[in-house]
Amino acid sequence: MTSADALVCPELEGALWRLYRDFFDTAERKRRWRVRDDIPWDKCNPNLDPAIADVVETFCCVELYLPDYVSKVLPVVRHSRGRTWFYANWGYEESKHSLVLSDWLLRSGSRTEEYMFDMEKKVFAREWNLPHECPLGMLAYAMVQEHATFLNYRNLRQRVQAKGGDPALEKILQFVSVDEAAHYGLFKSFFELFLNLDRDQSLQALRPVLNLFQMPAIHDLLDESKRRIAQVRELEIFNEEIFIRDVYNHFLNALDVTRAEMRGRGPKKSLAT
Ligand SMILES: [Fe+2]
Ligand SMILES: [Fe+2]
Repeated sequence: MTSADALVCPELEGALWRLYRDFFDTAERKRRWRVRDDIPWDKCNPNLDPAIADVVETFCCVELYLPDYVSKVLPVVRHSRGRTWFYANWGYEESKHSLVLSDWLLRSGSRTEEYMFDMEKKVFAREWNLPHECPLGMLAYAMVQEHATFLNYRNLRQRVQAKGGDPALEKILQFVSVDEAAHYGLFKSFFELFLNLDRDQSLQALRPVLNLFQMPAIHDLLDESKRRIAQVRELEIFNEEIFIRDVYNHFLNALDVTRAEMRGRGPKKSLAT
């Protein structure tokens, strides 16, 4: 097989499907949560630092681009049942993230209904586009982006705790970060199948993703993006240092890839057997 794509490889497609079925069965058994019933909504902290609500709003906006994330990636992976069914399930889980963050912004009194209406209007006025066009490029991107998203939510939860806590928001961020970690886990398992099948092509897809990574929407689609990015950095939720340590270096270790391979030269690790 010259291409690492699953277009015509039944063995690879079978492996993707089995990974998805395990993921789905585990999610149904252990990871489902309910926006209305599982959050202690009466325990929002009215004195929480408003900078936290600003970041929650930013993350909510990023999650609101769901129609673009789902509608643009499905045609790219349509040939793969494992990847398509995963994205359908992924879309359901991601839809809860903007829903629950937006409910917290309202119930905590941090934002009004009118404000949220205007904010959503601004989000939907702009369109997110695929950062990579080939299926393998999008898989590498999704893997890295889900892990980075997990870090953003996990770190935000730690900052909330350090600033006096908010039991409702902490519970939300716990559910959401566990979802993001599960998404990352599945994308990584998918990517490793391709890496084992065609290391060169897989690394070629990974290189631009890791070398030029940006969180979706936040840099180019949201209004006041400079202020939003500065707030995320100021609270040390995500910045260049965290990216190098917890994303870039993390992936070199997690995928057993050398720095030289990431630069596109030097000795290549032999294919895993
Ligand atoms: Fe999400
Ligand atoms: Fe996710």
